[in-house]
Amino acid sequence: MGTAGPALIGLATIPFRSSFGLAGGLFFMMLVVTAVAVAGGLRPALAGVVSSVLAGAFFLAPPDNSLRVSRLGDGLALIAFAVVGAAVVLMVNELARLGEQQWTSRRVEAALRRVATLVALGPPADELFAAVTEEVGQLLPVDFAIMGRYESDGTVTCVAVWGAPVNRFPVGSRSRVEGKNLVTIVHETGRPARVDSFEHSSGTIGVAGRASGFRSTVGTPIVVEGRLWGVMTVGSTRLRPPLPQSTEVRLAQFTELAATAVANAESRAEIAASRARIVTAADDTRRRIERDLHDGAQQRLVSLGLQLRAAEADVPPALTGLQGELSSVADGLAILQDELREFARGIHPAILAEGGVGPALKTLARRCTLPVELDLQAHERMPERIEVATYYVVSEALTNAAKHAQASVVRVELRSDGGILRLRVRDDGTGGADPARGSGLVGLKDRVESVGGTITVNSQAGAGTSLDVELPLGA
Ligand SMILES: Nc1ncnc2c1ncn2[C@@H]1O[C@H](COP(=O)(O)OP(=O)(O)OP(=O)(O)O)[C@@H](O)[C@H]1O
Ligand SMILES: [Mg+2]
Repeated sequence: MGTAGPALIGLATIPFRSSFGLAGGLFFMMLVVTAVAVAGGLRPALAGVVSSVLAGAFFLAPPDNSLRVSRLGDGLALIAFAVVGAAVVLMVNELARLGEQQWTSRRVEAALRRVATLVALGPPADELFAAVTEEVGQLLPVDFAIMGRYESDGTVTCVAVWGAPVNRFPVGSRSRVEGKNLVTIVHETGRPARVDSFEHSSGTIGVAGRASGFRSTVGTPIVVEGRLWGVMTVGSTRLRPPLPQSTEVRLAQFTELAATAVANAESRAEIAASRARIVTAADDTRRRIERDLHDGAQQRLVSLGLQLRAAEADVPPALTGLQGELSSVADGLAILQDELREFARGIHPAILAEGGVGPALKTLARRCTLPVELDLQAHERMPERIEVATYYVVSEALTNAAKHAQASVVRVELRSDGGILRLRVRDDGTGGADPARGSGLVGLKDRVESVGGTITVNSQAGAGTSLDVELPLGA
């Protein structure tokens, strides 16, 4: 089209040579050259300029049908056309390049924004890795993108794949980091790397890459808080020019976001683990205190009580006053013993370990000073941490209802479905519960979240208080 267009116009204008003239012909040819520059690019358009000049000289400038130009004005017109035509072509080309650049950077920005938004939401790690890898794959001129995590045992785990090699590198598969290939180079240097041919690559990954038809590939490290965490690789399987130089920079923008997400997830996991440790340690301490009270102080009180009863029996009948006093001390000791037993039970409910949540919640309901309606639809035994969490939520909620709510009744509902235990404790009292004003509700949040659950407190003033808890029954 580039060369043919102006030549055709030259031919088409032959019948109108005299009325059309050289200037008219060149004008039309300039329009065609501009259209070629927009649609076909630099080279065809420049070829169009050259062929326009030749066609103008041959068909439109006297003497006809010869490349010679006899009039000075025609010669100048042709030179002017060549200069202006070339300038127009170069300008159109530059504009197109700028437009292309702007379009690409807008796409990159949009993709980075999507990933950053996702990172801020803190989704499950596998979801985020898949999203980042897909964005990278769709943005760059590549056929595949693979995200890998370096393990401490000298392997790399594939955590996300986009594009062609899904079969050969499935998510979750592990390969040894060895031999000569992109993944090993990034592991050894901790820097971006590129491999433009897999012909001489070796190691499990190199061999699999060659078998997958990898050609031009680029990999960038994923560095989490100064430590090499993994690698993002992209590449093409088709014969085409090597990946552009900008690939490393683009890839690094995405791996930085992935690294932020990994760091966030790791610190969240650390907080959850330390919370769980604190809650477990507190439970262990409670259990030990309960055992110590049971085996130590309570036994001692029992034997003191027996000694006192024996002494009471030995008092001569004449000393009735002393006998009465001993008797009331022994009675007081028995009451103290009961109180201590109740106290020890409250510290760590032995009944929970023996009978599970059902009997334990019934005991709590019986002890509560308010009427309690129990609707228990979960009868099987559950993991101990879940039973303990359930017990403490109900215990605190009943105590709060009795202490703060001026409620007339409290309803406790418990049901398990689809691996989730759902607990609701609702009172019809004053409402307006505020975790910031005490330690009980905050402690429940710590306990529930430490076992992977959630707790919501709904407590509008005047509308009662409802505690909704969900606890995962799985691992
Ligand atoms: N069921 C309820 N009805 C009305 N107000 C409540 C209820 N539960 C809690 N509150 C209000 O919310 C505050 C916080 O409750 P929270 O259980 O955290 O602390 P607390 O009961 O005051 O003290 P503790 O640390 O001994 O539990 C309470 O002080 C109370 O004012
Ligand atoms: Mg409380």
